[in-house]
Amino acid sequence: MLSKSEFAPRLIAWQRSHGRHDLPWQNTRDPYRIWLAEIMLQQTQVAGVIPYYHRFRARFPDLAALANAPLDVVMAYWSGLGYYARARHLQRCAQSIVREFSGIFPCDVKTLAALPGIGRSTASAIAAFAFGARQSILDGNVKRVLTRLFGIEGFPGAPRVENVLWTLAESLLPVLVENQEENIKTMRAYTQGLMDLGALGCTRARPNCAQCPFQNACVAFATGRVRELPEARPKKMKPVRRTLMLILRSGDAVLLKRRASKGIWGGLWSLPEAVNEAELLACAARFGAFGPFTPLAAVRHAFTHFQLIIEPRMAMLPACGYAGNCLAGEKQAWVPLRDLHQYGLPAPVRRLLTQ
Ligand code: ADE
Repeated sequence: MLSKSEFAPRLIAWQRSHGRHDLPWQNTRDPYRIWLAEIMLQQTQVAGVIPYYHRFRARFPDLAALANAPLDVVMAYWSGLGYYARARHLQRCAQSIVREFSGIFPCDVKTLAALPGIGRSTASAIAAFAFGARQSILDGNVKRVLTRLFGIEGFPGAPRVENVLWTLAESLLPVLVENQEENIKTMRAYTQGLMDLGALGCTRARPNCAQCPFQNACVAFATGRVRELPEARPKKMKPVRRTLMLILRSGDAVLLKRRASKGIWGGLWSLPEAVNEAELLACAARFGAFGPFTPLAAVRHAFTHFQLIIEPRMAMLPACGYAGNCLAGEKQAWVPLRDLHQYGLPAPVRRLLTQ
């Protein structure tokens, strides 16, 4: 087991020998450049950010240039990076610093975290990199490192687990000294070390445990749970809807109905539906079918927001029970089974009818 005070020195030593030192936003103390990079790096990989970062900085070299630019131009320079709310917040943040802080970046994490687009972890990254503040980051990569190293159960995005992780992250911070220059170097190596360990070694898929500076202390490694931690977001149980579908056969044909153009399966051809047996009986009776109905095996179909359980009921009419087919545009049709491929049917209905 690793004592908490051993964590930071070991991480810093590893970062200095194995970490990244030449990213375009490193080796500067300019909070504008650091902030810009941290916002671009939210939800986006380093390789994707680098060309955008260079172009953006060339066009908006400082806070004032960004604050005064038309939003359309900012958006154009962001275009392709995705998550466009980040670009709108970025400019609002620049304007707010120009207006409320005379264009000087605040160095206090709480003030930073109150600005548009800057959450707690980004505020800590900016404060640590630019000002040597003793603050911990806790982004997705760091959550993964900590859940594995300390064997923390539960989905790290859950508030209870996240609180545990923040407390843990803060308890691991390096001890600082009287010398501010030293502290800046320490906090930069430490913060970058957390990022580098998550991005280069303790990756989500195929982590490189053999080269990890914490292998001998890692709970997940020792217990064979590197693949299981961090735990995935619990799957939400989808609500279940049931529907009865009537397979009304007449000779070689089956009755199809065209669905309303709005709603699920909008505009597709499907089977007549009923919410209960009584409604099904009434529906079938309109076509001269009075039972008995044969229940077939239920079919499940997953939509994004709910699960549909189809309970099919089959009934037969005499072969002469229908008067030919309907014209195009009509809402129902007797369709010979061999012609089903000409009709747009929902996948589970097609499966049901071709089985
Ligand atoms: N991800 C978030 N911030 C980063 C940084 N400063 N360097 C590399 N990857 C990062």
